[in-house]
Amino acid sequence: MTLIAPSMLSADFLHLEKDAEFVNAEADLFHLDIMDGSFVPNISYGFPVVEALARIARKPMDAHLMIVSPEKYVRRFAEAGVRMLSIHYEAAGGRTGEIIDLIRSCGMKAGVAVNPDIPAEKLFPYVGKADFFLIMSVFAGFGGQKFMENSYERIASLREAVDKEGRHCDDTERWFTEDCGCLVEVDGGVSPANAGRLARAGADILVAGSSVFRAEDPAAAVRAMRSAI
Ligand code: DX5
Ligand code: ZN
Repeated sequence: MTLIAPSMLSADFLHLEKDAEFVNAEADLFHLDIMDGSFVPNISYGFPVVEALARIARKPMDAHLMIVSPEKYVRRFAEAGVRMLSIHYEAAGGRTGEIIDLIRSCGMKAGVAVNPDIPAEKLFPYVGKADFFLIMSVFAGFGGQKFMENSYERIASLREAVDKEGRHCDDTERWFTEDCGCLVEVDGGVSPANAGRLARAGADILVAGSSVFRAEDPAAAVRAMRSAI
């Protein structure tokens, strides 16, 4: 099953409970974008928001760290109740493998994210180790950007590498509780218009911010994505 992960960056922060209940009712994951103003030229939100969401989230929280020195905060995200944690390959300073181990040792699913200018092949050495990969289909830092069309190929080549190693997991429910392979997530400019093609290219998790929360009817937007995949 392809999972839909609304990005809370586009939520209404004055009415966060309402938007969180929407995710609980209609979607599969909470995607939480953590930005530090250093790795990316924008600052989003941090632990107070993640911890508040944890109190009402009935769907798993998936935190996407766009920060330098991500290893410093891994344990803290685990304590906050995060189930999936991705770090950027570009921010890991050659210690991607070590940080994957650290994330897993804290009981979370470990993901490696890459911006659109990093060849997908850079992720191949981690196919046997990571629990998921996050292919950025825009440059990390802001919601509402235009989807980059070369993302389909990037997803397909990564998915091929995952399949070749016998690491793909079709049972996303089992994936949360067992060590049963590697999922591919796509993030940036995802909408009902490209969801079907992304799923066919091999994406298991679709992150969508503005196409959901800025839609006139967010539930209809999620349904439109589900019927396209
Ligand atoms: C961008 C973030 C995304 C963003 C997606 O750096 O990683 O998760 O919120 O927003 P949309 O769907 O509007 O492109
Ligand atoms: Zn994200």
